Amino acid sequence: MNRLVFPKDFIWGTATASYQVEGAGHEGGRGESIWDTFSRKPGVVYAGENGEIACDQYHRYAEDTALMAEFGFNSYRFSIAWPRIIPAGTGKVNPEGIAYYRRLCEELHKHGISACATIYHWDLPQPLEDAGGWASRSIVNAFEEYAKICFRELGDVVDRWITINEPLCIAYLGYLHGMHAPGICDLQKALNAAHHVNMAHGVAVKAYRKTGLTAPIGITWNPVTPRPATNSPADKKAAKIARTLETEVFVFPCLGKGYPELVTKDFKGSLPIKSGDLETIAQPIDFIGINYYFENPVSADKKARFKYCNRPFWQDTTDMGWPIVPGGLERQLKWFAEISKGVFGKTDIPLFITENGYAGKDEIGPDGRIHDRDRIEYLKQHLSVCADLIKDGLNIKGYYVWSLLDNFEWACAYTKRFGIVHVDYNTQKRTPKDSAYFFRDVIAGFGEW
Ligand code: FCB
Repeated sequence: MNRLVFPKDFIWGTATASYQVEGAGHEGGRGESIWDTFSRKPGVVYAGENGEIACDQYHRYAEDTALMAEFGFNSYRFSIAWPRIIPAGTGKVNPEGIAYYRRLCEELHKHGISACATIYHWDLPQPLEDAGGWASRSIVNAFEEYAKICFRELGDVVDRWITINEPLCIAYLGYLHGMHAPGICDLQKALNAAHHVNMAHGVAVKAYRKTGLTAPIGITWNPVTPRPATNSPADKKAAKIARTLETEVFVFPCLGKGYPELVTKDFKGSLPIKSGDLETIAQPIDFIGINYYFENPVSADKKARFKYCNRPFWQDTTDMGWPIVPGGLERQLKWFAEISKGVFGKTDIPLFITENGYAGKDEIGPDGRIHDRDRIEYLKQHLSVCADLIKDGLNIKGYYVWSLLDNFEWACAYTKRFGIVHVDYNTQKRTPKDSAYFFRDVIAGFGEW
């Protein structure tokens, strides 16, 4: 028999993000975000869909909380929509937005579920993008002001803070590849965005320490640390370049290690670093959040812009086309444990998997159930990695599955279903999939098969 055994105090959560689940796009005083604007552009989001209604969690948060409780989850990772708190990005605060997140947190607490709030998960107020967005340094002050309001207004009900979700996607998908809002393709803007996201994290943590609040605060990265396709020195070097450009550039400065030399040298000072910035970014954090979905093999490629390219793989894929590589999660976690050793005078910073999950073509069967065997298989494999590493002594404290619900999957809109609970978008009916029952058993200590 196989068995998944976790420590008694392990944190079990589900994760979502405001634009992907809340809906109520023009309710409660919410301002426009870059995703509202981006999804109106023809051809960028599947079938021209948007998050205007999404899963309607703004109105159904009590039902969703009850679902989490039913399956035994003890934490919920959600994000705060900046345009709900400060509709114009800076200036006037919207009390209705604050009231919504208070209601949500209080409902969670009623069920013994802790509130893990991400301050920024990609829904930038449009007026800030009009002023240059993450590519402009003025964003750093705006973010500080916004974060301070979150701490002041919600500090008594939030149990864990994550400053920013996936800096890599903000900077590169948003400003280099143009696949996400605001849809810009400009290397210099992407490098500016990378530095400003790092700065925003730093100023927020610095401000937080002055509030006297004691809930832990950290950041969530989606480390891309591909494996070399072969043992050749060229491929090993390619994998190193990929790791540096996609991961170290975000992680290293936040952990007080400065920017990697490859970046400062090869991009010849094009990161807009001012004196004092590195100190601002390197604020001691209480934990590291890691989002993991897949890993690619890479090879050297002289013709490619950054001298490396992804190679074909043999593994089965999820509905996103992402290869299923549980070993990649092991490599990520070990890498983080290694590089964070001794940082900020701590022996080992707690690690959280803040997202991990599987997109499938989930349909309700004739028996009214969703037998998502493939998702369960994926989860078994990835949870086994965590359980084994905890046994080996890694300081992994929690796991949040992406996602509680099927939701608006950015440019893929509603075509990709990541939930452990199915959503019928016509009726908003929630139907737990078998994977929800799988979690119930694992959390209750019966993760066996
Ligand atoms: C991550 C995002 C999350 C979700 C998953 C599938 O990159 O943080 O919002 O879209 O991917």
